[in-house]
Order: sequence, then C-alpha cells, then structure tokens
Amino acid sequence: MARKRVAILISGRGSNMMALIEAARASDYPAEIVLVISNKAEAGGLALARQAGVMAAVVDGDTRQEMEAGIQRNLEAADVELVALAGFMRILSADFVQRWDHRLINIHPSLLPAYPGLDTHARALFAGEVKHGCTVHFVTAGVDEGPIVAQAEVPVVPGDTPQTLAERVLAEEHKLYPKALAMIAERS
Ligand code: GRF
Repeated sequence: MARKRVAILISGRGSNMMALIEAARASDYPAEIVLVISNKAEAGGLALARQAGVMAAVVDGDTRQEMEAGIQRNLEAADVELVALAGFMRILSADFVQRWDHRLINIHPSLLPAYPGLDTHARALFAGEVKHGCTVHFVTAGVDEGPIVAQAEVPVVPGDTPQTLAERVLAEEHKLYPKALAMIAERS
C-alpha cells in the first residue's frame, strides 16, 4: 500500500515534528512526511526539518483567511493527504477544519477532555491530579474537542513542577504521536 503523504504544521521548537519525521524514516512506516509548514519564521523546527531533508515553508498572513489559503495552496501543491498539528499555535477556522475532516490531527498535552487550552501542566498540578498525560485527537471546529484517537498517561509525583511534569508528558508525546499517525495512515 502507498504511504500516506503527511504535512506537519508547527509554530515552535518542533520536537513532536521530529518524532514523526524520525518514525517515518522506517521503510515499513505507513506515512511519509513530505512537508512542514510554520506560521512563524523564527520557529526552531524549520531548521530541524530542513536538516532532516524535509521541505519546510513559512506561511503567515494578516488574516486567518490569508494564512489558511496559503497553507491550503502548499498542501495541495505537495499532494498532502493527512495533516498533523504539532505545537501549531493558531486556531483554524471551521471551514478549513471541515475541508480536512478526519484527515487533520493534533497532539494536546493533557488527558482530554480534561484541560483543553493552554497551561495544562500547571492547571493539572493546581487541581491536585494524580495522573496527567497527552492526547492525539481529530481536529474539529471546537478547540481540543475532536474525537480522541489515542492517549498516554503519566503519574503526577510529589514535588512536580509544571516543568518536570511537562518533560514527563513530552516524552510520552514523542512515542504516542508516531503510533497514532501510523494508525490513522493505515486506515484512511
Ligand atoms: C507540545 O506539548 C504539544 O502537545 C503542544 O505544544 C507542544 C509543542 O512542542 N500542542 P513541540 O514544538 O512539539 O516541541
């Protein structure tokens, strides 16, 4: 079966992006990463993608509509079939999300539906949670609300800070995202 052509959208350091790029190096991985798009020219992930031999573009715009039109053009030009958000910090419109219905996934650093939005680690600690984690989900118009594809749990341990908890969760993100993308690439 042909490998699914995947684009990754980033805004920052791109560690989840690198986890996907590295997983996709295996010849039996069901997806290939053909394009990285950042809405920030200064995103550290852009250089990492290029070093890894993946085409990387910056697409921004004065309005969300302009940015999304630019993203869509790039996705079409590269014959992209699936899109993975990895630390992409702009909210996508209902129209865009609809166009990529069930072909657009995101990784979020909490056990959704708990803690959608930002500052998930600090909020989980403040609430006294004993477990926390990350979620891969399909993107729908409601932010962090789409159907859940996969989750990984970590314990919250005494003395945790948002930083130590974030590191524990991130290590799981790097394992979960490649597995979840493979699952979706195989069935779509
Ligand atoms: C990750 O924690 C991801 O779950 C969240 O943003 C962060 C991105 O980190 N959506 P990176 O750019 O993948 O290193």
